[in-house]
Order: sequence, then structure tokens, then C-alpha cells
Amino acid sequence: MVQEDEISEGERLKSEYYDLVGGWNLPLVRPGGISDTDQLLEMCEIDTGSKVLEMGCGAGFTSCRIAEWYGSHVRGIDRSQNMIASAKRRAKEKKVDDLVDFNTGDVMNLEFDDGFFDVVIMESFLNILGEPELIQKALEEISRVVRQGGRVVVNEMFADEKTPPKVKEYIQEHLNGLCGPGGNLARYSPTEFSNWFEGAGLHVVRIVKKPASTMRSDLAKSLIKEMGLFGFFTFTIKASRDMLSNKQLRGTTRKAASVQRVMERNKDTRDYFGYMLLLSEKA
Ligand SMILES: C[S@@+](CC[C@H](N)C(=O)[O-])C[C@H]1O[C@@H](n2cnc3c(N)ncnc32)[C@H](O)[C@@H]1O
Repeated sequence: MVQEDEISEGERLKSEYYDLVGGWNLPLVRPGGISDTDQLLEMCEIDTGSKVLEMGCGAGFTSCRIAEWYGSHVRGIDRSQNMIASAKRRAKEKKVDDLVDFNTGDVMNLEFDDGFFDVVIMESFLNILGEPELIQKALEEISRVVRQGGRVVVNEMFADEKTPPKVKEYIQEHLNGLCGPGGNLARYSPTEFSNWFEGAGLHVVRIVKKPASTMRSDLAKSLIKEMGLFGFFTFTIKASRDMLSNKQLRGTTRKAASVQRVMERNKDTRDYFGYMLLLSEKA
């Protein structure tokens, strides 16, 4: 399912991981609930004529929502073929396939002209890329395809500036590889993200921070709302089956449990972690 002819082992495993997750038909693979997506969309000031890119669109929930709400054209790009297949199915089901165009692609090399888009949205995407230089490179490519004054918004997890080095190291060690090798979830602070945005010519206008402690329950409630109880049940059966047959996934799930304790439940550490909605404008 990996499209590139020659990619590193780490990137190959990451693609395989998301193809597997793509097979679960999950509408949302990110922190927080649907209300966070809606808050992010409000920041974008989208109208019918807006050209919108959803980068790392996964199963296409947000792209379809934009088309349904605003009637604007949306391009959704993701590297996983299974995610894109799932997104295309969703667009048909929601009857917005005339407005939404889903394709496989890599953020590092987008096939769009300079300044093509008015808005770019990314949810739980930059952290997945892993190393700072990759995040910076991706933001430069995103900045290239946005028009001057256009908006780039993200939902990303963070470890705040005050996180003690020991706690950071623990998370880094356990989270590294959780989203495929090199991918991470809460390694960087809002200040680091802001610097990367500014470095790519994207001026940070606003950051709304949310606590990590409620992100999982908010996500679960939204998944049940969107998939229905039967759909959610089917997903848990599929995921459990994959877990039994896939060693990488088993390891990932074990690590996730210990990280959840530190980031979401332990009262001494949980306040360092959260996710943020960040609004930026192309300078
Ligand atoms: C955590 S999921 C988030 C999906 C979706 N945004 C959501 O909120 O449900 C991250 C997505 O990024 C995609 N991805 C990872 N690296 C990518 C890259 N270099 N270019 C394009 N997509 C990538 C994965 O295939 C996966 O679908």
C-alpha cells in the first residue's frame, strides 16, 4: 500500500500503520471531539468560494464537513491509500463527492501552484512527521501553496514549556514510534510550534489550549455519535483482531497505556500536556 518506490524503513512502517488504521473506517483519528473541529473551522472564515486543502485528511471527516457546511471545494490529501479509499466512500455517503476531491500524496511535495489555497487545515498531522526539520519542511511546503493573507490552522498535541526534562524523556521514549516510527504525539511545546510557523512565513494569530485529560473521552463520545454504537462496536472488534495478528500494533498499544497514565491521569504530570488549536496567516 506504500506508494513511493524508495522510502526509508521507518517511513514504510509508518505508512503501513496508517493503512491498517485506515481499514478500521474511523472518522476521526485525533485528540478531542467534533466540537474541536468545528471551533477550528470557525477560525478559518471559509465561504462558498474558498479553496480549502485538508492535509493528512485521514478518512475525510473534516473535508466532508466543510463541503456540507460551506459548499466550498476541498482537496483532501493523505499518504495512506486505505485512508483515501475510506474518505472517498464517506464523500459519496454524505453526497458531497462533487465538492471534495481526495487523493494520495505527500506533504513534502504537493502538486499545487504557489498561492493556490485560501485555507489549509491539518488535524493531528505535524507531530506525526516526527523530527523538527521535517515539520519545518512540511510547513514551508504548506506555506508555498497558500495565498498571501490565507489561513493555516492546526490541531496538535503539545508538552508545555514547563514540562520537566524527565517527564519529557519518558514520553519521548514511550511515544516515539507510537504513530509509526518517528511519529510522536506530544513532544513539542506551543513555543516550538510557533517558531516553526513563523519561520515558514505563517504568522501565528491565536492559540487555544485544551487539556489532555479529557481528549480521549471527548473523542470516544464523538466517534459513537458519528459511527453509531454498532459502528463503534464493529471498529473495536476489527481493531482487536488486528491487534492479535500484528506484533507492531500490540507493542504500540502497550506503550500507549503507560503514556496515557502520565499525560491524562497522573495529577503530578497531566497538566503539562494538552492539545491546541492554532490559527496562522500567511504573511
Ligand atoms: C493521526 S492521523 C490524522 C488523520 C485525520 N487528520 C484525522 O484527524 O482524523 C495522521 C494522518 O497523516 C497521514 N500522513 C502521515 N505522514 C504523511 C505525509 N508525509 N504526507 C501525507 N499524509 C501523511 C497518515 O496517513 C494519517 O492518515
